[in-house]
Amino acid sequence: MSDANDDLDAVYALKSPEDNRRHYDGWAESYDSDFVRDMDYVLPDRVAEAFAAAGPEGPILDVGAGTGLVGARLVALGVGPVDGTDISPGMLAAAAEKDVYDRLFEGDLLGRLPVEDGFYGSAVSAGTFTNGHVGPEGVDEVLRVVRKGGLIALSINGEHWEKAGFKARFATLGDQIAEFRLQEVRYYGDKATGAHAADTGWIAMFRRG
Ligand SMILES: C[S@@+](CC[C@H](N)C(=O)[O-])C[C@H]1O[C@@H](n2cnc3c(N)ncnc32)[C@H](O)[C@@H]1O
Repeated sequence: MSDANDDLDAVYALKSPEDNRRHYDGWAESYDSDFVRDMDYVLPDRVAEAFAAAGPEGPILDVGAGTGLVGARLVALGVGPVDGTDISPGMLAAAAEKDVYDRLFEGDLLGRLPVEDGFYGSAVSAGTFTNGHVGPEGVDEVLRVVRKGGLIALSINGEHWEKAGFKARFATLGDQIAEFRLQEVRYYGDKATGAHAADTGWIAMFRRG
C-alpha cells in the first residue's frame, strides 16, 4: 500500500472536529504535493465541473475548501465569486496562496458557520462529507447558509453513502430540498495506485427548497 493510501485510512479514522483541525493543520503544507499528486486526486475538479455545468449563482461557498482545489477549478472555469470555509487554519492558509477566493474563513460545519441565513447563492463541497469528517448532520448547516432555490453540490464517499447515514438523511429532508439527483464520480485518476485507487462516490446535486 502506498503512503497516500495510508493517509486516507488515517483521515477516515478521525473522530472529532478537533481531530480534523489538528490533522489537517499538520498535513496542509504537503497535501497538494504528496496526496493530490500521488493519488492523482481528481475529485475536486470533477465536482467543480459538474457544479459549474449546473449553473450556480454567486456568491458561492466552497465548504471544507481545504487547500483550495475546488475554488481554483471554478475560477479557471470563469465561475464566481467564491468564498471558502474550513475547520483547519493551516488548510485555509494553503488555499489563500492560490489567490482564487474572495474570502476565506474558519468554520465548523458540525457547529455554526459565521454566516447569516441564506447569504450564499450556492454551495459546493468535495471530499468533506465522509467518514471521520462531516456526517449527514452537516448538510443542515449548508442548507441554512444557501438562499432558497440555490444550487448545492456535495461529494459523498460511495462507501459511506449508506453506512454513514447520508442516504437516510437525504430521504428525510422533504421540501427542504428540490431537484435532487446523484451523479457517480471517481475520486482518483489513472495514475492512482493502492487500495483506494478505484474509490468512487456520489455528487449529490440539489436546490435549496
Ligand atoms: C479531504 S479534505 C478536502 C479538501 C478539499 N475540498 C479537496 O477536495 O481537496 C477534507 C477537508 O474537510 C475539512 N473538515 C473536516 N471536518 C470539518 C468540519 N467539521 N467543518 C469544516 N471543515 C471540516 C478538513 O479540514 C479538510 O480540509
